[in-house]
Amino acid sequence: MFLILVVKNESKSKSMKSKINLFIPLIFVAGIQLAAQPAGRENFDAGWRFHLGNVIDAEKTSFADQDWRSLDLPHDWSIEGNFRPDNPATNTGASLPGGIGWYRKFFTVTNVRTEHRFIQFDGVYMNSTVWINGHQLGNRPFGYSTFQYDLTPYLKEGQNLIAVKVDNSLQPNSRWYSGSGIYRHVWLTTTSAIHISHWGTFVTTPKVSLKEALIRIETSIDNETREKKTVKIISSIVNSKGIKVASQVQSAKIEPENQVKTNTKVIVNTPQLWCIEQPYLYKLVSEVYEGKHLKDTYNTDFGIRSIEFRSDSGFFLNNKYVKVLGVCQHHDLGCLGAATNTRALTRQLEILKSMGCNAIRTSHNPPSPDLLDLCDQMGFLVMDEAFDVWNLEKRKYDYHLYFKDWHKRDLSDMILRDRNHPSIFLWSIGNEIPEKNHTKYGGAAIAKELDGIIKKYDKTRYTTSGFAGVWRADTTFMTDKVDVIGINYSIERYPEEKAKHPNGFFIATETSSSLSDRGIYHFPADSAIISTPDMHCSSFDNCGSCYDRPATMITQTTWRAVKETPYVAGLFVWTGFDYLGEPVYPYPAISSSYGILDLCGFPKDVFYFYKSQWTSEPVLHLLPHWNWKEGRLIDVIAYTNCDEVDLYLNDQLIGKRAFADTKFKYQTNQWDKNIDLGIGQKLSLNWKVPFSPGTLRAEGYKNGKHIATNVVKTALDAAKIKLTPDRTVLRADGKDLSYITIKVEDKNGTLVPDSDNLIYFDIEGEGKIVGVANGDPISLEPAKGRQRRAFSGMCQVVVQSTRQPGDITLKASSLGLPDTEISLKSK
Ligand code: GAL
Repeated sequence: MFLILVVKNESKSKSMKSKINLFIPLIFVAGIQLAAQPAGRENFDAGWRFHLGNVIDAEKTSFADQDWRSLDLPHDWSIEGNFRPDNPATNTGASLPGGIGWYRKFFTVTNVRTEHRFIQFDGVYMNSTVWINGHQLGNRPFGYSTFQYDLTPYLKEGQNLIAVKVDNSLQPNSRWYSGSGIYRHVWLTTTSAIHISHWGTFVTTPKVSLKEALIRIETSIDNETREKKTVKIISSIVNSKGIKVASQVQSAKIEPENQVKTNTKVIVNTPQLWCIEQPYLYKLVSEVYEGKHLKDTYNTDFGIRSIEFRSDSGFFLNNKYVKVLGVCQHHDLGCLGAATNTRALTRQLEILKSMGCNAIRTSHNPPSPDLLDLCDQMGFLVMDEAFDVWNLEKRKYDYHLYFKDWHKRDLSDMILRDRNHPSIFLWSIGNEIPEKNHTKYGGAAIAKELDGIIKKYDKTRYTTSGFAGVWRADTTFMTDKVDVIGINYSIERYPEEKAKHPNGFFIATETSSSLSDRGIYHFPADSAIISTPDMHCSSFDNCGSCYDRPATMITQTTWRAVKETPYVAGLFVWTGFDYLGEPVYPYPAISSSYGILDLCGFPKDVFYFYKSQWTSEPVLHLLPHWNWKEGRLIDVIAYTNCDEVDLYLNDQLIGKRAFADTKFKYQTNQWDKNIDLGIGQKLSLNWKVPFSPGTLRAEGYKNGKHIATNVVKTALDAAKIKLTPDRTVLRADGKDLSYITIKVEDKNGTLVPDSDNLIYFDIEGEGKIVGVANGDPISLEPAKGRQRRAFSGMCQVVVQSTRQPGDITLKASSLGLPDTEISLKSK
C-alpha cells in the first residue's frame, strides 16, 4: 500500500485586526460626536441613511437626504420585504425583493493633511459603487468580497460624505437567498503616512511541537510619504493572558510612495496549540517605528497548529487524528436575513458544537470575517469557499457575468483577508462547477489557475473543490488540479475514486441532502416519500433529493459510508441550519428543508442522530410525537448511543432492541439504479407500535448500565403559551440578542405537536423585536412582523437590545389562551 504523507504544518493567523495609530481622530457620526478613539480602526456601522430605489445625484454632498430612513449597519433590505411569487429572485432566492438601494453617511474628520484614512466594507450584496464627497472610488460586483478604499486624497477638514449605491436588481443571481445591502460591517481606519499595509501581516507556524514552535512572520509596510524612510519593526507574540512570549526587531528601508515586505522568525517555547477542544489564540503585535516615533500598531490573532492529510487515514491536527464532522452553511441567519450579527452566529456555532460538529464549510462563498473569528475562538475547522460558478452560469445573472474580469481579485482578496485564521484548513476553488462537464470549457486550466492564485498567497493549507461526482466527468480532468479531492454525494464511488487516485486525499465536501421539516412525519418510515400534498418533508429520514437516494435512511447510509472509509477525512452535511431559498416545493415554499436544524435553530429529529454518533454524551431520542389516531400502527425510532433500549407504552414493555441484533441492507440510488452497499448494523433502533394515548417511554443501557431515559406524551388541548429565552441578560449595545422559544402547551406542560395558533407579540422597554420565525418552509408571514403562527407547536421571537440599559418585557397573546410575559434585562 502506498502511503503519502504531506505535511502542511504552517499555522495561520487570524484576519487583520485593529490598527492603532498615534493620532486621536475625532469622529463624528451623522452629526453626533463620539468619544475620541485612540484605536486606528473604528467600527463605522452607526448612523447611516438609507433609501430603497434608485435616485439621481445621491452621491453628491448637496443632495437632500433628510427624508431617508436612519439606520445602523449591517442591513439587509430584502428580509424587510414581503414574500411574493413575482419577485424576480424566484423562490430559489426566497421570493423576496431585490432592487437598488442607496446608503449615505456624513462624518467629520480632522488632520486630513497628516493622517491617512481607509474605509473597509466586509461585504455588500451586490454590485456596490462607493463615492467619497462625490468622487467615485470604485465598484465591486461580487457580493461576498471584502474590499477597502483609500479616502485620503478626497477628504476635507470637517464634514465628509460617503455614498454607496447597491444594485441587486438583476435577478435571479443566486441559487439561494442572498439578501441585499451593506449586510456586513464597515470599518474606518486612520493611520499615519507610514503604516502596515491592508491585510499586511501573515503568520505561519512551519514547525510545531509541544516543546517549541517556529513562527514565521511576514509584514508589509507602506510608505506614503515622498521621502525614503528607514523604519524599525518590532514583532511581538503575546499569549492569551497578554504576556509577551517572544519578540523580534528588524529594520527596513522603504522608497518614497512604496511598499516593503519583511520576513522574520521567532520561537515560542512550550506553546499552547490551537485545537478543536482548546482553541488557544496568540496575538502578533506589530509595531512600526520611525526613529523613536511609533507610527503604527497592528494586531493579528493566530493559532499554533499543524494540519496534515494522509492518503490512507484522513486528517490530522497537531499530529492527532480528527474525523472532520462538518456541516455546510449558507450565510443567512433565518429571520434576521443576511445582516450579520455576532450573537446570532455564536448561537449557531454553540448549537452545532453541542451536536458534536467540528467543522464548517462556507458554502459557496467567502463568509463574513466575524464567522471566521468565532470559528477560531470556538474551535471549528473551516473550509473557506470562493465560488459557486466560474464562466458557465447556474443562474441568468450570477457571478459568471463577472468571473472573467474579477476572479483573480476576488480570490486573492479572500486569501489575503483570511490566511491568518487557524480554523481554516481547506481553501475551495468552487462548488459543483459546471465547467467540469466537458473539457471544451477549459475547466482544468481554470482550476489550475485558481489553485495557483491561492498558493501564491498561502502554501500552508490544502486546496479543494466540491466535485459533483454524480456527474462523473470532473474526476477525470479537474481533480488533479487541487490537493484534496472533494466529493459531493456519490458515497458509493469512494472505492472507485480511491483506486483511480491511490495517493490522493479525500473529503466528502457535501453529503446527504436529506430533507425534513420539524414535527412532520409521513408513514411508513421505511419507504421513501419525496412529495406530499401538504408540501412538507417527513422527519423519518425517508425524504431526500434525487441523488444518494436510498429507499430510506439517507442520513444513516451516508454517515456509515464516511465513518467506515478511513481515507475519507470526514464530511460536510448539507446543511447545518435550514436557509432561506432553495425550497423543495414550488411557491409558496420559500426556504429549504435540508437543515439538521430548522430556520429558527430548533433541532429536528436528525440532530439527535448526529449527536448520538458524534458525541459520547448519552443520547436517547424518540420520534415521532405521540398524538395519533387510536389503533394506527406507528413507526417509533430511537436515535441513541446506548447499546440497548427498552420501549414502554403506558408502563407496558413493548419491546427490547439492541444494536447488536440489527441488520440492515445498505443501499444507495443513482438515478433510480440501486447500488448495494452491504449489510451492516443499523444506526437507529425501530419499533412498530399500535397507537394508544398516554406515555411512550424509552430506557437506555450501555454495557448493561442504565444511562438514559426519554419520554414522549400525548398532548391534550392547547392551554398555554410558554416563553423560554436563551438568555435573560443582554448587553445594552444595540446588537445583542435574546432568542425566545415559544411553545404551545397543554395544561400539563406537554407540547401540542400539531398546534398552529397565531401568536401576537408586544414588547416594552429597552429592546425591540428584530425577527419572528417558525421553521415552516411554506410560511409567508413576514420575518419582521409582530405575530407568528406556531408550526408543529413552536415559533420564535428574536429580541435585540437598544443602547440604553433597562428592563425589557415581552408579552405573547393568542385567541383562547391566557396572555404570557417574560422579563429580560439589558445592561
Ligand atoms: C448540491 C449543491 C448545493 C445544494 C444541494 C441541494 O448539489 O452543491 O448548493 O444545491 O445540492 O441538494
